Amino acid sequence: MQVDVLLGMQWGDEGKGKIVDVLTPKYDLIARFQGGPNAGHTLEFDGKKFVLHTIPSGIFHESTMNLIGNGVVIDPVTLRKEIDNLIEQEVPFTERLLISRKAHLILPTHRLLDAASEAAKGKDKIGSTLKGIGPTYMDKTGRNGLRVGDVELPDFKKRYEALRKKHIQMIERMNYEYDGLEEMESEWLDSIEFMKQIPFVNSEYYINNALKEGKKVLAEGAQGSLLDIDFGSYPFVTSSNTICAGACTGLGIAPNMIGDVYGIFKAYCTRVGSGPFPTELFDETGQKLRDVGHEYGATTGRPRRCGWLDMVALKYAVMLNGVTKLIMTKADVLNDFEQIKVATSYAIDGVETDELPFDHALEGLNPNLKSFDGWKSELSADQELPPALNSYIEYVEKETDCEISIVSLGPDRTQTLIRDMQMA
Ligand code: GDP
Ligand code: IMO
Ligand code: MG
Repeated sequence: MQVDVLLGMQWGDEGKGKIVDVLTPKYDLIARFQGGPNAGHTLEFDGKKFVLHTIPSGIFHESTMNLIGNGVVIDPVTLRKEIDNLIEQEVPFTERLLISRKAHLILPTHRLLDAASEAAKGKDKIGSTLKGIGPTYMDKTGRNGLRVGDVELPDFKKRYEALRKKHIQMIERMNYEYDGLEEMESEWLDSIEFMKQIPFVNSEYYINNALKEGKKVLAEGAQGSLLDIDFGSYPFVTSSNTICAGACTGLGIAPNMIGDVYGIFKAYCTRVGSGPFPTELFDETGQKLRDVGHEYGATTGRPRRCGWLDMVALKYAVMLNGVTKLIMTKADVLNDFEQIKVATSYAIDGVETDELPFDHALEGLNPNLKSFDGWKSELSADQELPPALNSYIEYVEKETDCEISIVSLGPDRTQTLIRDMQMA
C-alpha cells in the first residue's frame, strides 16, 4: 500500500482538520508528520466543535489509529489538555493514539526563547504562535534536543536540567525578563508522566509494517506550503518542511511510497502573522471575508488577514507537492459576493510574471486580478452547485491541471460535496 498525504496549499488554516476527519473512515492510520501546537485543526460534527493541536484529526473515529510522527514537536502540556477534552468525550485515547519515540519535546524554556526571539525582533517579528516551535527545531538540527524516547531513560532529568541551563543562559544574554518558569516546569514534568500512558513506538517501523500488511495510511500536514521553511516567504515561515517531502522525513516513509497527494485550499486566501501576502485586501471586502468566514485563529484567536485566491501561489504549491487531487474549502463564504477575484499573475515594476519571485520582491508587487461573477445563493451538498461556482471550479482545475475532488460547503462533517466518486 501507499501513503496518501493531505496538506495545505496556502498559509495554513485551509480546513485540513475537517477534511481529514471526513476522509478518516477510508483509512486505518492517520499520521501527523510535522509542526506541533502551532497548528489548530478544527473538527465539527453532531453539533460539537473540537480544536486539535498535536493529535491527528482521525481520533474521533472508532477503528482508525492515530500516530504523532517523528517530525512533530510535542509540548506535553498542550497534549495533555487535548487529551482532557478527549476524556470528556469518552474517547479511549490509549487505544487509538501512538507517539513516535523520535518526536522532539518542546520544553518550557523553548517557549520562553520563542518569546525572547520575537521581542528582540521588534517590528520585524515573525508573528509566531509563541508555542516554542522555532527554538525546538533549532535544538533538533543543532543536535541538542530531547526526544520522547528520552523520557524512558534513567538520566532523563539530568538531560533536561542540562538543556534548561543552556536555555536560561541564552535568555539572560538576550536580556529577556520572564517569570513563572517554576510553575511551567512543574506542569510540564507532570504532563510528561501523564504522556507515558500513551504507547511510544518506533514509528518508522510501525508505519512501514502497517503498509506491508495492506493498511491504508493518510499523512496529515500542518501549516501550509507557503509557510514551508525552504519554500515559504522566508523568514516569515514556520520551522519545518510543510510540503509533501516533509511526510517522508517526518514519518520515515520512502518517496516511492507516496500515493495520492491531496492539496487543500480555501476558495480565497488568509494569512495569520507577518509576511508578504500579494492579494491581501485592506478594505471592507477583506473585512467581509473575515466576518463571514470567521477568520480568527484556532490557536491564538488572532484575526486572520484575508484576500483573494492567488493562482500564482496555488500553482507553486501544486508543483512543489506533486498534488494529484485538489480540495476546495469555504466556498460557502463567497455565497454573498457580487464579484469574486483571483490573481492570475504578478506585476513587479511593470514586468509581468507567473512565478513567485525571491522573497523580498514579494513586498513590492501588484497582483493582476481576474473577476468572476458571484453565485449569490446558498450551497448544499444535496443539490447541484450553481453554474457560477462551477465556472470558478473549472477555471482552477484548468489552470492547475488538477481535478477538484472535494468542495467543502461549511464547517460540519456533513457539509461536504465529494465530486470524485473514488473518494466517497
Ligand atoms: P486547519 O488548520 O487547516 O485544520 O483549519 P482551521 O481549523 O484552523 O481553520 C478552518 C476553519 O474553517 C475552522 O473554523 C473550520 O471549522 C472552518 N471550516 C472548514 N471548512 C469550512 C467550510 O467549507 N466552510 C466554512 N464556512 N467553514 C469551514
Ligand atoms: P495550521 O496547521 C496558520 C504561522 C504563524 C506565524 C508563522 C510562524 O492550523 O494550519 P510558528 O508558531 O510556527 O513559529 O509561527 O507561521 N503559523 C500558522 N498559520 N495556521 C497554522 O497551522 C500555523 N502555524 C504557524 O502565525 O506567522
Ligand atoms: Mg489551523
